[in-house]
Amino acid sequence: MKKNKTLIILGAGGHGRVVADCAESLGIYTDIIFLDDCFSARKKNAHWIIAGPISSWIDYNDNTEFIVAMGNNLLRASLLQQLFSAKRCVATLIHPTAFVSEKCNLGLGVVIFANAVINVDAHIEDGCIINTSATIDHDCHIHAYCHISPGVNIAGGVEVGQYSWLGIGSSVVEYITIAKNTQSGAGAVITKSTQSNTLYLGIPATPVRSLI
Ligand SMILES: CC(C)(COP(=O)(O)OP(=O)(O)OC[C@H]1O[C@@H](n2cnc3c(N)ncnc32)[C@H](O)[C@@H]1OP(=O)(O)O)[C@@H](O)C(=O)NCCC(=O)NCCS
Repeated sequence: MKKNKTLIILGAGGHGRVVADCAESLGIYTDIIFLDDCFSARKKNAHWIIAGPISSWIDYNDNTEFIVAMGNNLLRASLLQQLFSAKRCVATLIHPTAFVSEKCNLGLGVVIFANAVINVDAHIEDGCIINTSATIDHDCHIHAYCHISPGVNIAGGVEVGQYSWLGIGSSVVEYITIAKNTQSGAGAVITKSTQSNTLYLGIPATPVRSLI
């Protein structure tokens, strides 16, 4: 049933369109509107309108929920923190085909896309992207503002530090700790706990460069 609410999406890129499509499939929003700094050049993001620059979120409040659709973890964090400080209503969106255990704990500003699985006693903190067909097993703790890309599989009991980005198709073995701001390349298999601010590639994944 529609909630007579508007969803404002900050960020009108491709990821934003997946967010909009996910929101539309829930059938609860009467309007879905983008804000993006491309506003002066572009008034539409495919099927949805772009109504103003990012900063114009301040003009919206009543009957409005917000979500930030920026793939960049730091940018997403910064905008979500502004929305939290201003006490705006920040949504968490779960695609109807995702399985999310009732016994897990989800923060605000989280998006969980089609066919993702979040198993029992997992904890997903604010602002995480759990992308298409990613699986997060029992007892995992995904700290705030992570991006778990499409097709990532995380085994049970893994901790993923804030701002980490696990690249498409990565796998993570059970009960290890992915440090803050770890990045893994496409297809990496992470078999040991990682160092923070480091890019890992390959099978098994090895550190290849610092991210700072
Ligand atoms: C790891 C990654 C970030 C590196 O990007 P980059 O810095 O632009 O690196 P380049 O494409 O210039 O590649 C540099 C080298 O690393 C290699 N490489 C890149 N990605 C790799 C990967 N995932 N595994 C192993 N090697 C990889 C390249 O083949 C290249 O090797 P070479 O120097 O011998 O030719 C990127 O390749 C990647 O895997 N991104 C994940 C994308 C993703 O998950 N998207 C999901 C969005 S929803």
